[in-house]
Amino acid sequence: MLSKKMNAALNKQIKIEGQSSQVYLAMASWAEIQPGIDNITTFFYRQSEEEREHMLKLIHFINDRGGFAEIPAFDKPSLTFPSLKHAFHELLKHEIMVSKSINKLVEASLKEKDYATHNFLQWYVAEQIEEEGLARTLNDKLELIGDEKSGLYLFDRDILGVAVEDPNAPTP
Ligand code: FEO
Repeated sequence: MLSKKMNAALNKQIKIEGQSSQVYLAMASWAEIQPGIDNITTFFYRQSEEEREHMLKLIHFINDRGGFAEIPAFDKPSLTFPSLKHAFHELLKHEIMVSKSINKLVEASLKEKDYATHNFLQWYVAEQIEEEGLARTLNDKLELIGDEKSGLYLFDRDILGVAVEDPNAPTP
């Protein structure tokens, strides 16, 4: 059974994951109207879907453990970006914020001696390592490319190959 305190803390994370989904959805829609970056657009849509899944996973966990997952309102995300670099920088900053929030939840679960929640959160810890790492790699690549058009072409061509692996997926 979830404590009221843990339930409230997890509810806050629902908002953070759902908000992430909205932020990346806005990036996807903006990218979609920029010429020649179709795969980057797909990447943002895919990230948005993943964040929605992270949110759903929390909702089911809370409700399955006798709590109540409250569905929050979301804030309006930034709709446009001065450049692709800015959008990817925002993505990295956002993931760093999510990681901090997950770490706080892990801390709270230990304080409460809620080992089931602690165990559940390990998936998010692993996922954040992957997502932050991916965001850093993409930012580094964009930095290298600078304003070079051919570099951007290759970046767009290759981006869908750099998927975030599900840490719980069975190894082939
Ligand atoms: Fe679910 Fe990328 O944080």
